[in-house]
Amino acid sequence: MMDRMNMKRIAAEHAAGFIQNGMKVGLGTGSTAYYAIVTIGERVRSGLSIEAVATSQASEQLARELGIPLVPIEQARQLDITIDGADELDDRLRLIKGGGGALLREKMTAYNSKRLIIIADESKRVPRLGGFPLPVEVVTFAKEWTVRSLEALGADVKLRLDSQGDLYSTDNGNYIADCSFGVIDAPDELARELQRIPGVVEHGLFISMADMAVIGCSDGSIQTL
Ligand code: 5RP
Repeated sequence: MMDRMNMKRIAAEHAAGFIQNGMKVGLGTGSTAYYAIVTIGERVRSGLSIEAVATSQASEQLARELGIPLVPIEQARQLDITIDGADELDDRLRLIKGGGGALLREKMTAYNSKRLIIIADESKRVPRLGGFPLPVEVVTFAKEWTVRSLEALGADVKLRLDSQGDLYSTDNGNYIADCSFGVIDAPDELARELQRIPGVVEHGLFISMADMAVIGCSDGSIQTL
């Protein structure tokens, strides 16, 4: 039986195979996206010619170390493909993302890509979203108001802390509120409610964004959705 890291790796390697010469590529964030970036780096060293945009400072640094050509965001137009991980996905390719705190840049990058391919190990597939607390990026100003508005939607809210016990700051200087809603029966409706709250910068529900999911399974096989 394959362990989770290897399931992530095989999914990432498979998805990296969709990248073709000349493409503009969005690089995701997290431990699964890490394997995709490493594989893309290997392909670049073997002659693949691409330009990439990273969804976090961590992925940008990794890409730079691996020699993947990066385009400054101001110069990036529409991307051909983005490969990114997810915290949960259902059969309709609705996602929870943001466990790594990069959901705003990830969503902006996905929105500006022709294709979003999600890579994951099989544990991320769920019948219904909500087991993983939904990350919501909030502005620092009057965070208590925003937290109360999230609680009013039925969430148990925890502001994310970093390894020092301080409030976690995103690459954009905002906070992350991790919101446990329990099973999310109507993700589309919840997404609309979250967007209405002033103070919410972006939330980790990705609806109608993913075009395909590549899942690494414990028996070593790959499933595509
Ligand atoms: C980061 C994300 C990641 O894609 C998500 O958290 C999955 O991470 P991992 O691949 O490490 O399981 O949304 O903001």
